[in-house]
Amino acid sequence: MITQASERVETRPMDQEADLFQINAIDHVELWVGNAKQSAYYWKYWGFAPVAYSGLETGNRRNASYVLEQNKIRLVLSTAYSPHDEMAAHHLLHGDGVKVIALEVDDAELAYRESTSRGAKGVLAPTETRDDFGRIRISAIQAYGQTLLKFVDRSDYQGNFLPGYKTLPPDPTVKPVGLAAIDHIVGNVELGKMNYWVNWFHQALGFRQIVHYDDKTIHTEYSALMSKVMGNGNGRIKFPINEPAEGRKKSQIEEYLDYYIGPGVQHLALITGDIIGTVRELKARGLEFLRVPNAYYDSLPDRVGKIKESYDDIAELGILADRDDEGYLLQIFSRPIQDRPTMFLEVIQRRGARGFGVGNFKALFESLEIEQAKRGNL
Ligand code: FE2
Repeated sequence: MITQASERVETRPMDQEADLFQINAIDHVELWVGNAKQSAYYWKYWGFAPVAYSGLETGNRRNASYVLEQNKIRLVLSTAYSPHDEMAAHHLLHGDGVKVIALEVDDAELAYRESTSRGAKGVLAPTETRDDFGRIRISAIQAYGQTLLKFVDRSDYQGNFLPGYKTLPPDPTVKPVGLAAIDHIVGNVELGKMNYWVNWFHQALGFRQIVHYDDKTIHTEYSALMSKVMGNGNGRIKFPINEPAEGRKKSQIEEYLDYYIGPGVQHLALITGDIIGTVRELKARGLEFLRVPNAYYDSLPDRVGKIKESYDDIAELGILADRDDEGYLLQIFSRPIQDRPTMFLEVIQRRGARGFGVGNFKALFESLEIEQAKRGNL
């Protein structure tokens, strides 16, 4: 059986009063990796420039961290010096992956107090650090798996990242590709745990479910998953949560959970204003994307209708398209960005649509299963 869910984005005006505390943006995403120095070179292909560094040379005896930026996207890559460090143990278990999703808030103390008083587990009580550029306040709570949600208040800080980081000189080898901001961050959780985390985001952060899938389960012939999207009041933070569903064979979500050894971030979706230009450049640099069967493009103009881009370009580059009540979106998914089949990236362009491309799920999952089968994991 192949069924296809449809999606409806919540159109009720998002009133900020519903939020328990003000969240302005995604401040940064930190990945704990095996070799941060070399990973930083990989991310240069994606157009990210190293802008700040912390490590032995700056007095950090524990770990090396590189801060990378492209427009409003800020990533941090960290590796421990000691095998006894928590960071090293995390890497041994999970491989490369997202450890921290940091949210820029007006008040890190309030965010911590509100979320922990509503059941979130505190990991870092509100802490203030200072340097010549001012003061930063940070707190953190535990999210799915070993992933942390950090709250960062940088309103009294003029430095370029955090105290303890030194600014790096501009890197002339980095050429941006037009990736502008993080659109959404998707988490994979265990079978039966999706609603737990949907409720957790509602309880702890005041988030609401912003996308309703009429058919909660998305099937292909072999595998299935369920997904719900949680978002904050101003609509800037969108966290879809997936769980595997029963299917004839192993779902892509189970494959992730098996290789990440538990729940974690499945993909970061990076938004661009020109997906044709961005993807053409990324492919020219050798980055690898999933490709749906060519038959997908035969019916695409009928399904999606008139668009500003050329369908020839879209088919040539392997970009996917979907339409909802408000417009359309274009998207493409990378192959996993580390050896384990865990995290990947999405490049997305929105032309009005606020959904997540549910019309592409079936074609996409079938392509993912071809890759899973190649890995012996279907
Ligand atoms: Fe996505």
